[in-house]
Amino acid sequence: MPVMPAGRNKSRTTSLTRAPAWRALAAHRKTWQDRHLRELFATDPQRFSRFSAEACGLLLDYSKNLVTAETLELLLALARERGLPDRIGELLAGKRVNSTEKRAAWHSALRAGHAAPREVRRTLDAMRSFAGALRAGAVKGAGGRPVTDVVSLGIGGSALGPALAAEAWAAEGGPRVHFVTTPGEMLARALAPLDAETTLFIVQSKSFSTQETLINARAARAWLENSCGSAGPGAHFAAVTAQAEAALSFGVPQERIFPMWDWVGGRYSLWSAVGLPAMIAMGGDRFDDMLAGAAAMDAHFSEAPPEHNLPVLMALTGLWHASFFGMDTRAVIPYAPGLSLLPAWLQQLEMESLGKSVSSRGKPLRHDSGAVLWGGAGIEGQHAYFQMLHQGTRPVPVDFITCRAPRAGTGSDTHAVMLANCFAQSALLMQGVTAAETAAALRAAGAGEREAARLAPHQALPGNRPSSTLLLDALTPHSLGALLALYEHRTFVQSAIWDINAFDQWGVEHGKQLASSLLPEFASATPATTHDASTNGLVNYVKKMNTEKP
Ligand code: F6P
Repeated sequence: MPVMPAGRNKSRTTSLTRAPAWRALAAHRKTWQDRHLRELFATDPQRFSRFSAEACGLLLDYSKNLVTAETLELLLALARERGLPDRIGELLAGKRVNSTEKRAAWHSALRAGHAAPREVRRTLDAMRSFAGALRAGAVKGAGGRPVTDVVSLGIGGSALGPALAAEAWAAEGGPRVHFVTTPGEMLARALAPLDAETTLFIVQSKSFSTQETLINARAARAWLENSCGSAGPGAHFAAVTAQAEAALSFGVPQERIFPMWDWVGGRYSLWSAVGLPAMIAMGGDRFDDMLAGAAAMDAHFSEAPPEHNLPVLMALTGLWHASFFGMDTRAVIPYAPGLSLLPAWLQQLEMESLGKSVSSRGKPLRHDSGAVLWGGAGIEGQHAYFQMLHQGTRPVPVDFITCRAPRAGTGSDTHAVMLANCFAQSALLMQGVTAAETAAALRAAGAGEREAARLAPHQALPGNRPSSTLLLDALTPHSLGALLALYEHRTFVQSAIWDINAFDQWGVEHGKQLASSLLPEFASATPATTHDASTNGLVNYVKKMNTEKP
């Protein structure tokens, strides 16, 4: 894979907060002191059409963001000043944009179809053949019986993407696909109802060294050997990894090892062989449709002018809310069955990519980087945390995601309830309910003056809380691919503006190493003394209680 060093953009050597466009935005921010979205809508009946954009079957309504035409102009000027078009070109051309690991981040090549590198096309063919055979019942266990259950053993980017895709679009027929991430109880619960003779495990690990996944793989191998005897695990294992030798020595047959490459980050790897469990659940054609949807978003990202570019618009308005309004968290709230795992996938994508504190040149940042991302299915959330979204002291920007058309099996009446709730929450966050309106409603309901005055402050909603709505025409493999690629590129644009490396994750490596050094302490007969007092205290407390309460 030829990787060229990414071009050095001189504007990136200017500290971001001293950049003219950044200073202009800081000045513009002062004009927002007394603005309310409610007035912006009242004075501009065209606001929705002015601040919405469409691409790849998705409508982005960002009219409820804290933006005016001037705000957008200044944000687009910042993007230009930071060399965004060149940065996008470097990313999509497979240049070495991952500066610390000196690698490309070429996940767009995985969905480039005929233009994809030969090794990508070969791997996809092998995946389609294997998934097709599994779905046709032509893959048999050691005892000659067709595989009925596939268990994916992986964690983080080796699980979140395929689990999301499989949940969003599992097709009829084919083996049942299970996702096991953590060792112990989760694996035991998954295996309890399964027949070892008809179960296949896929060890999903780019490094083939992630502790949780290897513990699960060894436990699965023991379960198989206990159940299938000396036939050995070969017929019941496959692997997806960049470390083929490690998979071979584990006992996975060569022909069942699907390659990963170092120029694909774990959180960007759904489109690679990591997607194999999803392809088994969806079927090869639907997986191809998902790749095509992502490729369509890549083309939009590459070709659309910034002012009509969905990833760029979402990234810039998100940066505006985070960096200039101090909105340190952001919620992603799908009102769409099949997308309940989207917030978890996005947490890794955005927080492993944007959770950085030094610039791509290793200098401490003088500004905040990525916001904390959280969320969950909307219809449950409005009975849980929406209270804080509406009346808390901390405004939280929300991405609402829903679909125009109901999914097969969902009645249009039920689907209308989903849409009505989604749109109502977004509207209320924007317009709020004033104390005067609340008091009038209370009086109209029969409350006296004093009671209305007493309750009004408690029932009013401040509003002026930004949200975006992504409206998919329907949830299909194609629109799912476009949606996920949209967020991948949104993440990249923010990293480019903040000048941070979106593609390494050194912060998680230290935790893995320290955990490995702590593990032997629990089996040691001598007290822990070499760690900090808290860690020594905790470890020794566990050991003491284990002896007292074996
Ligand atoms: O959390 C750290 C991380 O390396 C993620 O980036 C990755 O998706 C996950 O662990 C699993 O890593 P592997 O695929 O190597 O097992």
